[in-house]
Formats: sequence, C-alpha cells, structure tokens
Amino acid sequence: MSNTSCYTIKIMDKLSVFLFVLSFYTIVNAGSGSHSLWVLATYITGETPFPEFTVVVMLDDVQVAYYDSNNKQTVYRGQHINNKEDEEAKDGAYVFGTMYHHMKERSLHLKHHLNLTEGVQVQQRMSGCEMLDNGEPALIMQKANFNGIFADFAIYYNITHFTYDAGKLLIGWDGMMQAYKITVYENVYLPMCIRTLKTFLKIDKNVVMRKVPPRLRLIKKEVSGGLQVSCLAFGFYPRHINLTMLRDGQPVAEQELTGGEVLPSGDGTYQLRKSLEVSTEELKKRHNYTCTASHLSLDNKLDVSWESGAERVHLSTLSALLVMVLIVILLGIFICIKRRWRCIASQSKLANFDANVSEEMNLSSDSEN
Ligand SMILES: *[C@@H]1O[C@H](CO)[C@@H](O)[C@H](O)[C@H]1NC(C)=O
Ligand SMILES: *[C@@H]1O[C@H](CO)[C@@H](O)[C@H](O)[C@H]1NC(C)=O
Ligand SMILES: *[C@@H]1O[C@H](CO)[C@@H](O)[C@H](O)[C@H]1NC(C)=O
Ligand SMILES: *[C@@H]1O[C@H](CO)[C@@H](O)[C@H](O)[C@H]1NC(C)=O
Repeated sequence: MSNTSCYTIKIMDKLSVFLFVLSFYTIVNAGSGSHSLWVLATYITGETPFPEFTVVVMLDDVQVAYYDSNNKQTVYRGQHINNKEDEEAKDGAYVFGTMYHHMKERSLHLKHHLNLTEGVQVQQRMSGCEMLDNGEPALIMQKANFNGIFADFAIYYNITHFTYDAGKLLIGWDGMMQAYKITVYENVYLPMCIRTLKTFLKIDKNVVMRKVPPRLRLIKKEVSGGLQVSCLAFGFYPRHINLTMLRDGQPVAEQELTGGEVLPSGDGTYQLRKSLEVSTEELKKRHNYTCTASHLSLDNKLDVSWESGAERVHLSTLSALLVMVLIVILLGIFICIKRRWRCIASQSKLANFDANVSEEMNLSSDSEN
C-alpha cells in the first residue's frame, strides 16, 4: 500500500466519527424552512499529503466556502464575493487564520499532554448555528474532537438550554464561568453566526432555496419467493420528502418496508427508495400498490400505481384472444371452403345452363331453319 492511501485510511478513520456527527445534524435540520451554517475545521499533524489545516463551510447541505493553510485564502462558491477586496473575504481569511493558530496551539498542548510524539494526529472542530424559518435564531453549537476518540469539549446553547461538556481533556467550568459563557454565546456568538448565515443565504439562495420536484417510479424486481416492489423517488431538492407505499389505498406499515434512507445522488439532488417483498402467494391476489410522494416543490401529491394479479388476467385475456383468433381463422377457412364449394357448384350450374342455352339455341335455330 502506498503511503498516501495508508494515510488516507488512517485519517478517514479519525474523520468518520466527526462525519457521523455532521450527518446527524444535517438530518435533524432537514425539512422545514429552517437553515443552518456549519464550519468544519480539521487540523492534521504528521506527514500527510493534505494541508495542515482545512475549513469547509456548509450552508444547509451545500458547501459555500473552503479555506486551507496552503493557500490562506477563502474560496467562496458565490461569485461576487470571490473578490479578495471584499469584506466577507477578508473576514473569512481573518477568522480562519485565527482558528488555524488556535488549533495548532491546542494540538501541541494535547500531544504533550498525551505523550504523543509521532504519527498522524487529527483534531477537528465543528461549530455552527441554526435559524428557524421565521428568521429567529434557534441554536448554536460547538464540538471539538481529538483523533476521533477523545471528546475534547462540546458546547450547546439554544436560548432555553446551555450545556457544556468538558470531555476527557479539560477541566469543567464553575458557575461564574458558565454564566459568563452563556452571556457571550447568547449575545455575541449566536447573533454573529445568524448574521453570517443570512448573508450566505442571500448569496446562495438560488442553490439552497431551489425546489426540484421528485420523479417517481414503481419498480418490480423478481427475488426468490416472490417480487420486490419498490417506490423510488429521485432527483429532488431539498432533501425532505414524504414517500408512502399504499396497498389498496392503505399505507403499508414502515416495518414491512426496507430502505427509507434519503441519499445524495451526487449531483446536488437526493433519492429515496422504499421496498416491499411480496410473496408469490400474495401476488396471485388482486392488490393495488401505489407509491405516493409529497414534496415542497409539488402542489399536489405525485403517485404511480400497479395492480398485482393483473398478470394472470392478462394471460387469460391473451389466451381468450388466441382462441378467438383461432376461431376466426377456422371460420375464415370454413367460409372459404364453403365459398369454393358454392363456386364449383355454381360453375357446374352455369355449365348446365350454358348447355341448356346452347341446346335451346340449337333448338330455336333448328326451328328457324
Ligand atoms: C508520559 O510519559 C512520561 C514519561 O515517559 C510518563 O511519566 C507520563 O506518565 C506519561 N503521561 C501519560 C499521560 O501517559
Ligand atoms: C433546547 O434544548 C432542550 C434540550 O434538548 C429542549 O428540551 C428544548 O426544547 C430546546 N429549546 C428550544 C427553544 O429549542
Ligand atoms: C389504485 O389506487 C390509486 C389510489 O388509491 C388509484 O388512484 C388508482 O386508480 C387505483 N388503480 C387501480 C387500477 O385500481
Ligand atoms: C410530511 O408529512 C408531515 C406529517 O404529516 C408534514 O408535517 C410535512 O409537512 C410533510 N412534508 C412534505 C414535504 O410534504
């Protein structure tokens, strides 16, 4: 294994815990008209091909900014704050630069504290806030992590609740310190984060607030013992969707269904699949299976239906049709044969008639003569 991929695996291991936490928060936030802004910072020591320090800024589920210690420049996806002279760009570079130094110091301290001399060490921080759909601040949160194992610290503030977890590496705060921190989080950090969130929301509203309706398919796949009937909704944004499978108009219980996790499609849209196994026995019965989806982008529900037991009907219709075709063919042959008989019969009659006529003519000519 090359050094690079080895490092990648080591680091990925340490990152996975963090990513899990992130995905949890994204899911919690999904749905309503609320929005969130998250800053994810990673500081890596040891020899790796990665920059020492990287920052990713996420607005909801869209990456809006990136910073690393190699370039020391914030790269925004919104075009008009790409300009280095802009206030936001300067603020970004300042904030992330400060963060870089803090995390560097903290890493030195932790390495010393834990007697770590060599190898790759990963320190991560996630901080961000959420806003309600009416624009009111909802919460602010900060979590820090060292090598994915040691919970460094966690702060959570949501207007009514404040929690601080010192983790395994710091000493806890006394009452006075706690009261001071609450004041700072309430009056400085939360409003500041919400203000930044609103700025990004204005710049990236075409991406974050876009509505892309789902496309819906009902898919049948043969499996051992029957058929797997799946509802697939895909290509939608935002990620929140209600997808239900109905059997004869009644919702199928969630525990009968498999799947059900909203997954990114890789093009900025999402997909969701819910599957039901239907036994061969059950398939013989006539049931109406319907997939129905509701989504922010749709005025009305979207649905597709399929009827089981209909194949059998098709088969019997087909055989009935075959019999009918056969009858028609036989009838055709019969008529044709009958016609031909008649033909021959009439031809012989005609021959007779001709004979009669010529005889008569002969007779008349005889009489004329
Ligand atoms: C670090 O190493 C020193 C000496 O090697 C030892 O005395 C100390 O207990 C170690 N600390 C930890 C946290 O393992
Ligand atoms: C804040 O968090 C606590 C604990 O999770 C919860 O009970 C409370 O309802 C939250 N308050 C608000 C305003 O969201
Ligand atoms: C199946 O049910 C759906 C909704 O319950 C309905 O719209 C559809 O017409 C039904 N299809 C058949 C073939 O009965
Ligand atoms: C999904 O269903 C829930 C509960 O019925 C409802 O509150 C929510 O608005 C629905 N979401 C969409 C996107 O239709």
